[in-house]
Amino acid sequence: MSTTPPNKIIIAIDGYSSCGKSTMAKQLAAQLAYTFIDSGAMYRAIALYFIRTNVNINNQDEVKTALQNIKLSFIWNERTQQSDIYLNEENIATEIRELSVASKVSAIAAIAEVRSFAVAQQQAMGKDKGIVMDGRDIGTVVFPNAELKIFVTAAPEVRVQRRYQELIVTNLDISIDDVRKNLEERDYIDTHRKESPLVQARDAILLDNSNLNRTEQLALVMAWANEKIKDN
Ligand code: CDP
Repeated sequence: MSTTPPNKIIIAIDGYSSCGKSTMAKQLAAQLAYTFIDSGAMYRAIALYFIRTNVNINNQDEVKTALQNIKLSFIWNERTQQSDIYLNEENIATEIRELSVASKVSAIAAIAEVRSFAVAQQQAMGKDKGIVMDGRDIGTVVFPNAELKIFVTAAPEVRVQRRYQELIVTNLDISIDDVRKNLEERDYIDTHRKESPLVQARDAILLDNSNLNRTEQLALVMAWANEKIKDN
């Protein structure tokens, strides 16, 4: 008896900074053997290029020319068992996590040309479905027809602590106040920008994970995913 493979779906995960979206998306993708795409890494990579080449973000021509010179790709890393993002053939997966990039990325991600550049590539990555993508506008703009949409949130202080614990490993000088300030600033810009602001899609399930550990969270979202795959 042949078994029909389950129909693949698109899973869109959106939410505020540092609420564990990427961790959750990565775990889900691994369980389902789907592709995981961290759309935030793409905006961080663009921001890194703009910082390195001193792009004046108020000059539309400079922004357009810079975007023409950017090639982004995700390449599987056998050692870490995850995809690394490459900017013009350079692995920048670690560098984009620095606070110097985090402090500029939201202003750059608010630019219309930057968004259409990234969104077109994200949509192409999802054309065969079987993808879990996390970001700010995935369920609203990138994949408005995604079969499963999750909007993740957590208490602000929980998010600050989680991000601080992540960053302190590689940057011993970082202060909790710097982390808090950056998250507050980015959340403000992301929710107030004109282009694709962060908002919960009407058909997204709200998940507050302040009091959930990773195992509990994964069990919950896997149940939602399996339900959607069954119905698809
Ligand atoms: O890891 P964290 O949740 O802090 O942020 P991220 O996912 O790495 O995204 C970095 C920044 O990119 C966000 O603060 C947004 O300004 C921007 N972003 C966006 O505008 N749209 C997306 N789909 C993903 C990220």
